[in-house]
Order: sequence, then C-alpha cells, then structure tokens
Amino acid sequence: MLNRSRRLRTSAAMRNLVAETDLRPRHLIQPHFVQPHPGSSEIASLPGIVRAGVEDTVRQAEKDLKRGLASVLLFGVPDAEAKNPDASYCRDQEGVIPQAVKALKQAFGSDLIVMTDVCLCGYTSHGHCGLVDGEGVVMNDQTLPLLAEMALRHAEAGADVVAPSDMMDGRVAAIRAMLDENGYTQASILSYAIKHAGAYYGPFRDAADSSPKFGDRKAYQMDPRNAREGLRDALLDVEEGADMLLVKPALPNLDIVWRLRQATLAPLCAYHVSSEFSSVKAADRLGWLDGDQLMHQHLLAIRRAGADMIVTYAGREALEKGWVS
Ligand code: PBG
Ligand code: ZN
Repeated sequence: MLNRSRRLRTSAAMRNLVAETDLRPRHLIQPHFVQPHPGSSEIASLPGIVRAGVEDTVRQAEKDLKRGLASVLLFGVPDAEAKNPDASYCRDQEGVIPQAVKALKQAFGSDLIVMTDVCLCGYTSHGHCGLVDGEGVVMNDQTLPLLAEMALRHAEAGADVVAPSDMMDGRVAAIRAMLDENGYTQASILSYAIKHAGAYYGPFRDAADSSPKFGDRKAYQMDPRNAREGLRDALLDVEEGADMLLVKPALPNLDIVWRLRQATLAPLCAYHVSSEFSSVKAADRLGWLDGDQLMHQHLLAIRRAGADMIVTYAGREALEKGWVS
C-alpha cells in the first residue's frame, strides 16, 4: 500500500510531530464571579466555580497565574438591593468590579490581563441587558451611554480589556469614543460580536443572578438559525473599533468561528459557555463518560476551528490536573 496514514500515528512523539493544533495556558481565559462582600460560595450548576469577594478573587487569580493562566474575565454580582431599573450601580466608581480590577492590577500589574464584562443584566432589577421602556421593550440607543460609562469605570480602574456582551447596536463605537475622550486609548475592546439567544446560558444566570424577570433576550441576542447575520455584525464591530471578536456559544457555532476566521484578520475568541461546561460535568458525575478528556476535546475543537483564545470555566482545572500545560 502506497498510502498508509497510520505511519504518522505510530507513537506519541510521531503524533506530536504532525499535530496541527495546540492548546496552551496562554489560550485560556478564566471567568470569575465577583461579589461585593467577602468569602465565597459554590454555584451548584457550575461545579468547581464560585462567587467570591475581591480578596478571594485575587488569591485565586494568583494561584492560577503561577500555573500560567494569565487572563481573567470578571463578572460583577451585586447584591439584590443594589439593583434597580436603571442599573445605576454599574456607574459606581466604588462598585465591585472597579474594586476587583484595582486589586488585581495592584497585585499583578501587567503580568495579568484583566478583562471585564460590560452589560447591564446583572445590575438591572428586571434582568435585561439594556434599559427597558414602559412596554417592556429593551431600548437600544438609551442604553449606549450607560454601557460606555460602565466601560469607562472599568478602564479607570485599570482594566486591560472591556468586553461588551449586551448585544445593543453601536455599543462598540460608543465605548471606543468614551474611552478615547477620557484618555484611555490603550484599553482594548473585546466585542461579543456573535452571541446566540437560547438555553446555553442557564448556569451562568444562576451564578450571576441575571435571568430576565419577564420575556427573553431574542430581540437583542441572535437567532441560532443564522450564520451570515453574525458575520455581518462582526464586521461592523471591527469598523466601530473592536480590537478582538468573540463568538458564543462555542461548539454549536464552530462553523461560524471557522467562517469568521476567514472573514477577518482580528484576533478571535470563543466562549465555551456555562451549559457546555456543566453538561460535561453532569454526565461525568453520573459516570457516563470521561469528563476531563471530553472537556479537553471540546477545547481542542474550538482551537482547530480557528479561535485564538477561549473563555472557559475549565481553565483552572485543566492546568491543575495537567491536561493543558
Ligand atoms: C451577560 C452574559 C451572559 C453570558 C456572558 N455574559 C448571559 C446572558 O446573556 O444571559 C453567558 C456566559 C455563560 O453562559 O457562560 N450578557
Ligand atoms: Zn447581559
């Protein structure tokens, strides 16, 4: 036989020689849920992930950084009493995210990339990602100044990257203008360019206490039936000043990651979201499969499709258990 593909699969060293895809610590971004009070509590639907106060967050980030996990994405989890229809807590200089960013930057300086989520859903009493009018419609243009101000608070505190996830039109331009006007020309924008509506974010909403109190997010997040819609939007985000683009959920959208990789030169990020993580964990607990190996394969597939970096709840574990090094 002239062609025997198995020749190149004979040993681990041979397989490594011809491997096309790498998964390294530098590709991983670890999410953190940060609460305004000390201590930490487990999130039942996200095994191994906690909501933590600023001090505990810094301590955890330090352990992770020693293992090579050098990027974090912060989500604020304000107390229920701090929420209102206007999300005013998101503008607070002393809010939980500005505090956490300052503490992380003070501890690790430029060794740690600090990214922050910019969205209102964790801060509004109604749980929508933007301001809502009398009919319950999420208002686009009225939401933009608030998102821009929230991003500015994060940049003032020292955030390297702000990551708007709200899906309002024009938010990247609004945030870029606000940051530049105030001298934060070096703060980058990672835009959630393609974000599908649906069931993939359930455990996250438990963690962030950010479920909509009425309706759903289908009038702002994208229709999972569409791919072109997202590609079009992603290119607009680049025009508006996005430095990096994000696609989520990851595995159901590998076709889109691949197509976006061809369509733009910008660095690409994919978010391996809460349900993708938690469904592996749940099946592993039932003894139905090897969760670690499956999780690893998920992340490899995302890299192979063209993502430069991955937001994943499995980051820490991957390094602790050594299946990424
Ligand atoms: C906030 C936000 C969500 C996620 C990231 N940012 C939830 C949502 O849109 O309801 C989901 C992440 C995950 O499921 O892990 N807009
Ligand atoms: Zn939101």
